[in-house]
Order: sequence, then C-alpha cells, then structure tokens
Amino acid sequence: MSASAHVGSPVRIRLLTHADLPRVMQIENDSFSVPWSATTFQGLLRRSDADMIAAEREDRLVGYAIAWTVIDQAEIGNVAIDRAARGGGMGRLLVESMVERLRLRGVRECFLEVRESNTVAQELYRSCGFEAVGRRRGYYNEPVEDALVMRLRLAETA
Ligand SMILES: CC(C)(COP(=O)(O)OP(=O)(O)OC[C@H]1O[C@@H](n2cnc3c(N)ncnc32)[C@H](O)[C@@H]1OP(=O)(O)O)[C@@H](O)C(=O)NCCC(=O)NCCS
Repeated sequence: MSASAHVGSPVRIRLLTHADLPRVMQIENDSFSVPWSATTFQGLLRRSDADMIAAEREDRLVGYAIAWTVIDQAEIGNVAIDRAARGGGMGRLLVESMVERLRLRGVRECFLEVRESNTVAQELYRSCGFEAVGRRRGYYNEPVEDALVMRLRLAETA
C-alpha cells in the first residue's frame, strides 16, 4: 500500500507489526490522557478480525489506525498521528485507507467514539463521511466527558 498526504515526503500505508510497538506507544502516550497499553496492541495484533495500519514517512512510523469487525459492522478504535506530523493530511489518509480495507472485508457500517471536545477528530471523521448518531454519557475519563458516536454507512458510499 502506498499513498501521499498533501504536504511533505510521500507517505506509505502498511500493516502494523509487533516491531512497531515501541514507536506506537510513544505516539499513543503522547496523544491520549488514557492511552491503550502495549498489551492491548499486542492482543489486537493476534486477532484476525482486527485491521491495524501504519503511516510511514521517510522510514519512520508517524501514525496508525486500528479497527475491528463483527460480521458486517466495524468499529474504528484508535487513530493517532505523531504530534509533529499533524495537519499534513495523514490522519485523513489513514482513515480513508482503513475505510477501504473495511469495505473489502464486506463491512456495511462503521462506528467510532470521539470525545465531545475533540473537534479536530470530529472534523476529520465528518470530512470522511461519518455523521454523529448518538452520545455515550461519561464514556471517557481524565477528564470525564461524553463520547459522540459517529457512523459511516459504507454500503451507501460504495
Ligand atoms: C485527530 C488526528 C488523528 C488528525 O490527524 P491529522 O493528520 O492532523 O489530520 P489531517 O491533517 O489529515 O486533517 C484531516 C482533517 O481533520 C481536520 N483537522 C485537522 N487539523 C485540524 C485543526 N487543527 N483544526 C480543525 N480541524 C482540523 C480537518 O477537517 C482536516 O481536513 P482538511 O485538511 O481538508 O481541512 C490527530 O490530530 C491526532 O492524532 N490527534 C490526537 C489523537 C486523537 O485525538 N485521535 C482521535 C481519537 S477519536
């Protein structure tokens, strides 16, 4: 897989591997107040229903996206870009690449949760076709905050 974001050197989208975990944990710990553990990533790497992709620029991992699928419904569980590389189109590239992978799996609907205050991520998801369809009250900690539930219907965008 390869593609390009809108600024800088070419970006390669590839599968995430166990060897990426130290770098993934750097980005994860810097990106979230309640980061996933390395054990969570390791567990997902063993699951055949999980899609885990990385964005790489100049041989350095700069972001990742993770989803899992149950029958024809998927959930995007994690998307993060290295702070220094944000705003360069890589978040969009990862989400669009993930949606394409999910489409090939036969997914018809994709869901995700996002902090109510995370308007940057919400804009990204909206621009990729997601719409807000619900709210989970007090879903997040540190700080406690509602999640917006967003959905993309892939069957309609095919
Ligand atoms: C959310 C995140 C993944 C976006 O990645 P990114 O590479 O910076 O995003 P992109 O450059 O691809 O931008 C995609 C869209 O997001 C929105 N966006 C990006 N930066 C923005 C900003 N500073 N303000 C408002 N909207 C912004 C825009 O809609 C943008 O589309 P445009 O370039 O056509 O205007 C990144 O900011 C991140 O890792 N944040 C911390 C972790 C996180 O919040 N993950 C999501 C959890 S649900």
